[in-house]
Amino acid sequence: MKQIYLAPLEGITDSIYRNTFSKYYGGVAKYFTPFLSPNSTHKFTTREFKDIDPEKNDIKTTVPQLLTNNSEHFLWAVSKIAPLGFKEINFNLGCPSGTVVAKNKGSGLLYYPEELDKILYEIFDGLDAVCAKAGANVPAISIKTRLGKNAADEFYEILDIYNKYPISELTIHPRIQSDFYREPIRIDYFDYAYEHSMAPLVFNGEIKTIDDINETFRKYDTVNAVMIGRGLIANPQLAMDYAAGKESDFNHDLFKQFHDDLLKQYIEVLSGEKPVLHRLKEFWAIWQVQFSDHEKVIKKIRKSNRIADYKSALNELF
Ligand SMILES: Cc1cc2nc3c(=O)[nH]c(=O)nc-3n(C[C@H](O)[C@H](O)[C@H](O)COP(=O)(O)O)c2cc1C
Repeated sequence: MKQIYLAPLEGITDSIYRNTFSKYYGGVAKYFTPFLSPNSTHKFTTREFKDIDPEKNDIKTTVPQLLTNNSEHFLWAVSKIAPLGFKEINFNLGCPSGTVVAKNKGSGLLYYPEELDKILYEIFDGLDAVCAKAGANVPAISIKTRLGKNAADEFYEILDIYNKYPISELTIHPRIQSDFYREPIRIDYFDYAYEHSMAPLVFNGEIKTIDDINETFRKYDTVNAVMIGRGLIANPQLAMDYAAGKESDFNHDLFKQFHDDLLKQYIEVLSGEKPVLHRLKEFWAIWQVQFSDHEKVIKKIRKSNRIADYKSALNELF
């Protein structure tokens, strides 16, 4: 059976979201955490630790993701994460954000192929020793990448580099850094990777329907997984429907239960109404596509400054 992975979305797919999603919907084989940024302090932030705390995550299906351009920091993070029992760690080589790219991290590192090669060499060279020292099994190392920073043709050299290492899975988001999340997908380059990648490929980008999923698996026969971000947030039934083999109508009751559970948990863990509403509004920026004929209420939700106003707008919607 081909598989669906939930993409990491900073500010959206935290452990609360992932656990609640799996409670009400599911159909997802792997849940990637938003990136953790190991650095010279050799400490995870509280937010980061929540995302890898085995008490708050299913270690069998959760894949912690790391963003760094330093192999020593990467290996330090492995030495902390592997002993918790995680089987895979993902390397973020795709983040397009200006602040990240300015530090030559994420898709910024793709512009420096020699540096990229060196870091991957050092990571794979040091992995066994670091895990042995930590008394942990060696996790699989997967990569999530864009095609390049300034031009898609950078990808040919980048893929040659990836092909030198035992990458467990290579997820490709076929855009370059300056495309952000808007410009059309550059499918020809995924086709190229399909012909030339040594690592098993995962497709990511703009998958929104069961037809999109089926079409991807039909076109790329040996691709065994698609990673979905916004499409699966907007329609949380998508992976479940795919597993069941048919698209179902949007279930408003189930969605309301899911929503209410999320709201309750964020009220418990975040202090103050503003942070709770901020978090919920991030979801609504994506959820709103399901409610396109309720523009006025969605506007009220997005403008609410107090939880009471937010709830009264919600009552109008449901
Ligand atoms: C708000 C937001 C936050 C994101 N955070 C991350 C992240 O932490 N790590 C990562 O690898 N990709 C991140 N991404 C990229 C997504 O994982 C995914 O590659 C992108 O949304 C394209 O897939 P989609 O069209 O299915 O949404 C983020 C995207 C968005 C829109």
